[in-house]
Amino acid sequence: MTQQFDDTGDGPLPAASSEAVSFHHVPVMCAEVLDALMEAPAGVVLDATVGGGGHAEAVLTARPDLSVLGLDRDDAALAATGERLARFGDRVILHRSAFGDLSAAMDAVGVERISGFLFDLGVSSPQLDHADRGFSYREAGPLDMRMDRRQQLTAAEVVNEYDEDDLARVLRWYADERHARRIARTVVAARPVADTAELAELVRSAIPAPARRRGGHPAKRTFQAIRIEVNGELDQLAGAVDEAIRRLVPGGRGAVLSYHSGEDRIVKHQFDRAATGGCACPPRLPCACGAQPLVVMARRAGRTPGEAEAEANPRAASARLRTVERVERPVEAA
Ligand SMILES: C[S@@+](CC[C@H](N)C(=O)[O-])C[C@H]1O[C@@H](n2cnc3c(N)ncnc32)[C@H](O)[C@@H]1O
Repeated sequence: MTQQFDDTGDGPLPAASSEAVSFHHVPVMCAEVLDALMEAPAGVVLDATVGGGGHAEAVLTARPDLSVLGLDRDDAALAATGERLARFGDRVILHRSAFGDLSAAMDAVGVERISGFLFDLGVSSPQLDHADRGFSYREAGPLDMRMDRRQQLTAAEVVNEYDEDDLARVLRWYADERHARRIARTVVAARPVADTAELAELVRSAIPAPARRRGGHPAKRTFQAIRIEVNGELDQLAGAVDEAIRRLVPGGRGAVLSYHSGEDRIVKHQFDRAATGGCACPPRLPCACGAQPLVVMARRAGRTPGEAEAEANPRAASARLRTVERVERPVEAA
């Protein structure tokens, strides 16, 4: 049996529901992720966004000397993953937690150091596909979009209660939406917005006709931005990546898959900082400030999926994988 825990401390997670059993998510850039983690020393790999367990399963299969600590804040994902990874027995620990609480989550399950980590950011296909989760602009569903359905803030509050300025700011910051102001004005004027279908239609009507014909579904960016706001997705990332690097053993490997520029900027910045140790010396001069690099970066620009994968799996098309290797240096206490 996989070991499953809930961050409330209230005991095991509920058994897999039909929603969990039908959980299907194709892991993105799986070969490249495996490649990155293949040289990790034996031990525990943290999968900070275990989702449907596709990457975790690949790691457990390829490396019998690794076990996986899988976190997710979505109970349906964890229940499904528990079933999928059951055959690996006690090589798998699943814990319901946001990766923003990484340190507490690792302490709760008694894992101090890790051999590797993976963050595969954003939403999973089942979250998008189940209309009742409210993530989809293609089908009618409630304005929800919570990954953790215990949290208070829902998309309904963002859509129906944020003032026009705040709504426009969310759309600009989290999706670079060029028509943020027009969309925000249209939404505010139409309140109360009842569901995702009405929201998608309002966004479509707010965008000028020529722009509607470019770049996929007109509501795609608005839904992405609201989802990021509801789940505080970018707020947790920098601290969690830092903590995961800090917990890596020497020679340990880390990988982050991001899907839009806001996420990737944060990952690149944290990796750069860890790779320079925060060195502020002038470029091209030897370091005189005593900064100590924690990692080396495998490829500065990261990796993107091959053409075949990007074509076969639309979710993969915008993916960027960045990886690091922890250098031989003792870790100070936190
Ligand atoms: C892209 S999916 C991961 C898919 C997974 N790699 C697989 O192969 O099935 C992202 C998952 O991360 C979870 N997630 C997103 N943000 C999170 C956070 N801050 N803390 C914990 N889980 C998070 C989502 O609930 C979702 O299940």
